[in-house]
Amino acid sequence: MVGRMPRINTHYQKLRAGYLFPEIGKRVRAFAAAHPDARIIPLGIGDVVLPLPVPIVDALKAGAEEMGKRETFRGYGPEQGYDFLREAIAASYREQGAQVALDDIFVSDGSKCDTANIQEIFALDNVIALTDPVYPVYVDTNVMAGRTGEADDSGRYGKLVYLPTTAENGFEPTLPAGHVDIIYLCSPNNPTGAVMSRAALERWVAYARKEAAVILFDAAYEAFIREPGLVHSIFQIPGSRDVAIEFRSLSKSAGFTGTRCAFTVIPKELCGRDAGGGPVSLHSLWNRRHTTKFNGTSYPVQKAAAAAFGPEGRRAVQANIDYYMENARLIREGLSSAGYRVYGGQNAPYIWLRVPGGMTSWDFFDRLLAEANVVGTPGSGFGSCGEGYFRLSAFGWRENVEAAVERIRTNCRWEP
Ligand code: MLT
Repeated sequence: MVGRMPRINTHYQKLRAGYLFPEIGKRVRAFAAAHPDARIIPLGIGDVVLPLPVPIVDALKAGAEEMGKRETFRGYGPEQGYDFLREAIAASYREQGAQVALDDIFVSDGSKCDTANIQEIFALDNVIALTDPVYPVYVDTNVMAGRTGEADDSGRYGKLVYLPTTAENGFEPTLPAGHVDIIYLCSPNNPTGAVMSRAALERWVAYARKEAAVILFDAAYEAFIREPGLVHSIFQIPGSRDVAIEFRSLSKSAGFTGTRCAFTVIPKELCGRDAGGGPVSLHSLWNRRHTTKFNGTSYPVQKAAAAAFGPEGRRAVQANIDYYMENARLIREGLSSAGYRVYGGQNAPYIWLRVPGGMTSWDFFDRLLAEANVVGTPGSGFGSCGEGYFRLSAFGWRENVEAAVERIRTNCRWEP
């Protein structure tokens, strides 16, 4: 019987442990079962808590109403997204000083899916560089595709090029020593909360142009940038249109983690090369993939997303972002005053802290859960350079954030 079963994709067997957040969920459930009275505060996964703003809900309802009437009902929409939304997105790029055309934009149901799927349009023998620590999706999807080789004891895959980002280098990845074909960058960064400077991005674009590499720029958290003058889009950097793809999401900014809408920008001039060395448009390949595997984000959701770009929607979205960034400030300042070394949280909704006393990230996870009943994310789950660090998310109710900070200050103070 077994001998006749279909063979599996054995690259999946190279994946390390479970995906990070289900693993955390498992540990938290076990703790909660053993301590039914504990009031656990979740600051682990970056998931929003504030409800969708009213102008967005109104647009969602209006979209649903249209779907319920014969005159305004719609079936399949354009796979790339409705023009009313793509126009709103292109206009917001123009305001940021980035050159993005309506038909560079592919609307989707999430940046996790887009950053996961983009690797499909590239050959398996490309050399991939990514930061360490890193959003695990970039690594795992390349493992699944068979691009990485096996992991060593530290969890690093032999064929990936890792760019350490730690306190020692100010969380700025340095350029690879040699040639790489594809580079994943995320700014504002998940998990470190660091933001890449304009000068750093200019260096990366210059590197990509020199090496004919492609930058996969994850800007899912750009709306959380507070400091004026910081770059929100890689397309604000001259020369980036023929070396970069950008991913953006409404999940964290407009509260769409459960509603699902994101978009990917692939400039039409961006090319890879085929087996004969001839240039091939990556935009056209992604269009082929998108239209084959995706039938578009639902109409009411796109109406809701467009409302997030309108004047009232923007005000409401900004109020939610301000709320989370005030949480970030409370966590940053509260933990600093409790003796922790904290990073991030100023232009990103994540606080990245140094685990005290030589504990591992998972030891600290267990200690925080046991002594403060607070759930965070172990830095080692994001890569070997994340060992000794820990991430707290600012996406939570204010009263929970205040209680979490107070409990950490009381029960987990750290005197260096
Ligand atoms: C995170 O906590 O890192 C995020 O929620 C992950 C994601 O956006 O997929």
